[in-house]
Amino acid sequence: MFSYIDHLECTQCGKTYPHDELSKISPCCSKVLFARYNLDQLKADKTREDWTDRPSNMWRFAELMPVVNPENILTLGEGGTPLLEAKQLGSKLGMSKLLIKEEGLNPTGTFKARGISAAVSKAYELGVTGFTMPSAGNAAGAAAAYGARAGLPVKVFMPQDAPSANKKESFMSGSELNLVDGLISDAGRIAVTVAEEQNLFDLSTLKEPYRAEGKKTMGLEIAMQLGWKMPDTIIYPTGGGTGIIGMYKGFQELLELGWVSGTPPKFIAVQASGCQPIVKAFNEGKDNAEPWPNATTIADGLRVPGPFADYLILKAIRETGGTALAVEDSDMINAMYELATEEGIIACPEGAATLVGLKELLESGFISRDETVVLLNTGSGYKYLDLIKESN
Ligand SMILES: Cc1ncc(COP(=O)(O)O)c(C=O)c1O
Ligand SMILES: [Zn+2]
Repeated sequence: MFSYIDHLECTQCGKTYPHDELSKISPCCSKVLFARYNLDQLKADKTREDWTDRPSNMWRFAELMPVVNPENILTLGEGGTPLLEAKQLGSKLGMSKLLIKEEGLNPTGTFKARGISAAVSKAYELGVTGFTMPSAGNAAGAAAAYGARAGLPVKVFMPQDAPSANKKESFMSGSELNLVDGLISDAGRIAVTVAEEQNLFDLSTLKEPYRAEGKKTMGLEIAMQLGWKMPDTIIYPTGGGTGIIGMYKGFQELLELGWVSGTPPKFIAVQASGCQPIVKAFNEGKDNAEPWPNATTIADGLRVPGPFADYLILKAIRETGGTALAVEDSDMINAMYELATEEGIIACPEGAATLVGLKELLESGFISRDETVVLLNTGSGYKYLDLIKESN
C-alpha cells in the first residue's frame, strides 16, 4: 500500500468524511479538516526504517501522505532539507545544541513548497482543473510553480506591497497575478469568491486539508535527522500557523506508531510586534485570536492578522508547554546579518525572527541552555535582498 490515508476528521467535533472527495473546511463546524491514517495497519506492515533508504524528499513519507496513486505526485524535489548544527551561534549563546532546519533549500526557496506540493498533488488526483491562491507572497510563488508542473491554471492574489520576488516568480511561472489593495485576509476573501464563480479550487491554508500534511513532513524529518528523537523545543515564525499545526500532528502520528518516544517538543510561536494576534490570545488565555488591526511588518509571512486555525495553533503551543512572543522588525534584520556572519545562512526575516525569540527566551530562563533547540528558517534570504546593504 502506498498511502495509508483513511478519512478526514473535523478538528472541532470529530465528525468524519471520506478522503476521496474534494474537501475544504468541515461542513459540520466550518473548521479545519485533518487527514487521518490507518496507523494500526501501517504499524503492522512497516517500520520507520522503510523510510530511510528512499530518495531524500518529503515523499519518502508516502504512507503518511494523502496521495493514493504515486503517479499523481507533483514534485520539484521539496523536503529533505538539512538540519544544521549552529555551532558558533550556539556557543556564543552558551547552548549545548542549537540546530537550524534550513527550509531555504526548497524549490521556490521556502517551506511553502512542501504544503503546496501536497495540496496540489491531492487536488490533481481528485480532478481539480485550476486553482486560486491568496498569499502573503511565498505560497503564491509555490502555487504558481506547482500549478505549472501540473499543467493547470493558477490565479494568485497577494498584497500590492508583497516582495517583488514573489510577484516575479508567480508571473514567471505563468499564473495570473492579482495585486490586492489590502492584506492577505482581503486577498483571501477575493480568492474564495473568484474560486466559487469560476469553479476553481481555493488553496487557502488550512481551508483545505492537505497543505498541513506537506508541512507535517518538517517534523517527520527533524525526528528522523535526530535519530528518531524529538527535540526539546521548536521555535517557529507563525503567520497562518500551518507549520506548527502540521509538525505537531506529525509528531503525534509518530508517537502513535511507536516510532518515537517521549513528549513532543515545546512549540514556540514567534510573531512580529506589528502583527501578533496569537501572542495576544496566548497571553490572555483565550482559545481564539482577535484580528490584529493595521498589521505591519517587514516579515510578510508573519503579516496574517486573523489566522483561520488560531484555535489549533494555540492548542499546539499550550499542550506542549510552549509559549508565544513578538519581536521587532529591526531585530529581525540584525538577526539576518548574524545568521549569515556566524553560520553562513542567508535567512528570510521570518526565519531570523526565531533567533530573536530564542535570545529573549534564554534571557528570561524559559529556555535553558542545555536544551536541544530547533530554529525553523522557513525560507531563503535571497528573496529579501532588498533588506540588506551592500556595504557599511
Ligand atoms: C517565509 C515564511 N515564513 C513563515 C511563514 C508563516 O507560515 P505559517 O503559515 O506556517 O505560519 C510564511 C507564510 O507566508 C512565510 O512565507
Ligand atoms: Zn465538526
